[in-house]
Amino acid sequence: MATVLITGGGGFIGTRLAARLQTAGERVILLDRHFERGALDNLRPGVETIQGDVSDAELIAEIIGAIRPAGIVHLAAILSGQCEREPGLAFAINVGGTFHVLEAARRNGAQRVVVTSSAAVYEAPEPVPPCDEEGPVAPLGVYGMTKLAAEEWCRFFYRRFGMDIRIARPAAVVGPGRLAGGAASSWTTAIIEEPLRGRPYTCPVAEEDASALVYHTDLIEGLARLYLAETVPERVYNLGACSATAGELARLVRDRVPGAIISFQPDPIASFVVGRWRHVVMNCARAQRDLGWVPQYPTPADLVAACAEEIARGRDFTPPPSPA
Ligand SMILES: NC(=O)c1ccc[n+]([C@@H]2O[C@H](COP(=O)([O-])OP(=O)(O)OC[C@H]3O[C@@H](n4cnc5c(N)ncnc54)[C@H](O)[C@@H]3O)[C@@H](O)[C@H]2O)c1
Repeated sequence: MATVLITGGGGFIGTRLAARLQTAGERVILLDRHFERGALDNLRPGVETIQGDVSDAELIAEIIGAIRPAGIVHLAAILSGQCEREPGLAFAINVGGTFHVLEAARRNGAQRVVVTSSAAVYEAPEPVPPCDEEGPVAPLGVYGMTKLAAEEWCRFFYRRFGMDIRIARPAAVVGPGRLAGGAASSWTTAIIEEPLRGRPYTCPVAEEDASALVYHTDLIEGLARLYLAETVPERVYNLGACSATAGELARLVRDRVPGAIISFQPDPIASFVVGRWRHVVMNCARAQRDLGWVPQYPTPADLVAACAEEIARGRDFTPPPSPA
């Protein structure tokens, strides 16, 4: 059993990835600056937790020096809406925190580091061909800027020290329970989940605004494969399933929940951030080729159906079974 440290491990993706990596036989340690009550309820016993802030270089060096993990999945970050509101904090956590984690990984011989960037490095306010990993990236949104800067630091550690660093660019994650947080993209779940739970929903972006999307179970599988692969031939992998406008998701939801109350009241920050993603369609052929990753929920209708099924089952999240 090898030890994997997941930073930001108390969050939506971290807790789910922890369960998946436990299933693969890893010893999982979660690091987060704070763990929400109930965040770990769905995990099997055995997962360890440490409280710590990735923007604190000394503390992170100390923690990683004490654990000496075989690998790290670095998820800790603040998300898009909060980044626009607090650019200084975004720089300290998303860029500085990534640097501190990479530096501590290097000093302590971590064999592999997976870093989550984001589809937000692609911006396409006007139509463009599908975005692949080699295509242009020049984000104006603060979140995308910090993610691209973090990627550049990954490339530095790879170039200078030959570290095995793998970068994921996930699309906006859809899955029940992903309501809170500072993401300008959290409407992509809320517009589905709120009406399915019988509640009215006011969407903070316009009907024609869109986002690249991925179902949470598909993303977790992609991240797990990226982490667990012995080697990968590329540094960067897109992980997205499809793209949809807010209006399209609302129509799909209304087909399931007749009379669903969904209104649109664009707020300036969400509209700015998401407006810049309007025409982003991700090309994920590389992840399919190198990781054998094929989303189980490849269309907007599949995402809505999957949310409905999960909510009907009465559980937001079922951890994968224990290793045999
Ligand atoms: N959710 C999405 O749609 C999405 C899409 C693309 C990329 N990502 C990336 O995936 C990663 C995980 O996202 P998520 O959806 O689980 O978000 P989340 O907000 O649920 O989880 C992030 C976690 O990081 C922690 N964190 C924040 N600042 C920290 C700090 N200074 N030190 C330690 N921990 C800190 C938070 O407490 C939180 O638990 C992030 O890097 C995010 O940018 C997310």
